[in-house]
Amino acid sequence: MFLWCRSLEQSWLGPWKCLLLGELLHSTCLDTALIKMTTFLKCNFELNANQNLLRVILGGSSCISEIEECICQMLVPKCCITRSESCPNKKLNISSFTCAQAKSLSGFLHQLISEATYKLEAECIERRPVIMVLDSDVQMLPWENLPVLRKEEVYRMPSVGSISALINLTFYYQGQFGGHDATFPSIDPLDAFYLLHPTDNSNCRKGEFEDWLRDKKLKGKAETSSVEELVLALKSHDLFLYFGHGNGTQFLPKDEIEKISSCAATLLMGCSSGSLPFVGCYNPHGIVLSYLLAGSPAIIANLWEVTDKDIERFGKTVLSACLKERSTLSHECRTLVDELESVSIGSSEVSATRIASKGTKLRNDNINSRCKETTGRRSSIASFMSQAREACVFPFLIGASPVCYGVPTGIRKKDL
Ligand SMILES: *[C@@H]1O[C@H](CO)[C@@H](O)[C@H](O)[C@H]1NC(C)=O
Ligand SMILES: *[C@@H]1O[C@H](CO)[C@@H](O)[C@H](O)[C@H]1NC(C)=O
Ligand SMILES: *[C@@H]1O[C@H](CO)[C@@H](O)[C@H](O)[C@H]1NC(C)=O
Repeated sequence: MFLWCRSLEQSWLGPWKCLLLGELLHSTCLDTALIKMTTFLKCNFELNANQNLLRVILGGSSCISEIEECICQMLVPKCCITRSESCPNKKLNISSFTCAQAKSLSGFLHQLISEATYKLEAECIERRPVIMVLDSDVQMLPWENLPVLRKEEVYRMPSVGSISALINLTFYYQGQFGGHDATFPSIDPLDAFYLLHPTDNSNCRKGEFEDWLRDKKLKGKAETSSVEELVLALKSHDLFLYFGHGNGTQFLPKDEIEKISSCAATLLMGCSSGSLPFVGCYNPHGIVLSYLLAGSPAIIANLWEVTDKDIERFGKTVLSACLKERSTLSHECRTLVDELESVSIGSSEVSATRIASKGTKLRNDNINSRCKETTGRRSSIASFMSQAREACVFPFLIGASPVCYGVPTGIRKKDL
């Protein structure tokens, strides 16, 4: 599986795999390197390189030769984007650069690049999360496990429009509950409900795992329960955990889920719970799409069959990481932001001018950044997945199966 992912990455993406990575948070040394590089390319090769593309290449490639290959391919005008051997140079005028010529000409370029990568490595900058919108022909592949993405925070969504729709929906409902993070939804992992192997009485490990969950003070059941009860759990809790067979539709039918308007984030740890099989000639469909429709901000589900022991390890690791993150959240920041929010509501009611609301927003941002400084960067759900994959006994066979649908979902602390 590891070899397969690596060869897929090499043969399909080549040096351009850096394009899959999330945007780097601000970095001064990347900026200076970029300016040097664009002027150099412009003076020597008359190439008006796209700054954003160069930034991605410089910030995302793992070694110098990859960066050079990308830049060479940019230098060969109108060249196809595949590997250099197949460039149709003969049809173009040879006075333009070939890959080989460009390489020999670029001693200085090489020096620039190696300087930049050296500095970047020392700086160690964080990246923004990635949301992938996959075509129906490739959505069954474990993209998250390509070597370039395996340590990153990656989400899947069925379309670009669905991203803003889901954010709007979660924000609309969380706004009423006093959610505070400006852009993305957040959940309290302690406000969870679990459903554990409901029909599987022979599972001897069930007790042990349930004890673990109880120990974490989570609510839930390890026996069959009514649809109404489960629907209520999805509506009233922040997180729903399912460990059992398949996609859980035997307990929570698709139609009942879709009726919910504000659904909990979900861990569906059954076999193939996250796969989207083709339905005849129609678009692929799976239960995760129903959860997304119901407004669930994030759903971690499996692309293929898993073993219950290993997937429990995975679930435990994700859950522990979420709870740990929750425990590091300081109460002060939250109350400060909350207070400000109530202030901003009050003031916009009074003056109702744009300038006033802008002012409070700026102050809000200030407080937010101050909070982040004291607590470090806030992690969201999918950022815990890479460590959870490695916690499995079969990190590639089982650990590669779970993927996260939805949008970046932070951790918050509610008063329970
Ligand atoms: C191609 O390059 C040669 C010089 O190498 C030049 O004489 C010729 O005009 C160029 N042709 C075109 C179409 O640019
Ligand atoms: C956002 O969601 C609310 C609640 O569902 C809906 O009324 C509103 O039209 C949505 N806005 C946009 C821009 O989609
Ligand atoms: C859920 O799983 C069952 C059994 O594997 C399957 O028949 C059904 O189509 C799945 N439901 C959805 C919505 O994917």
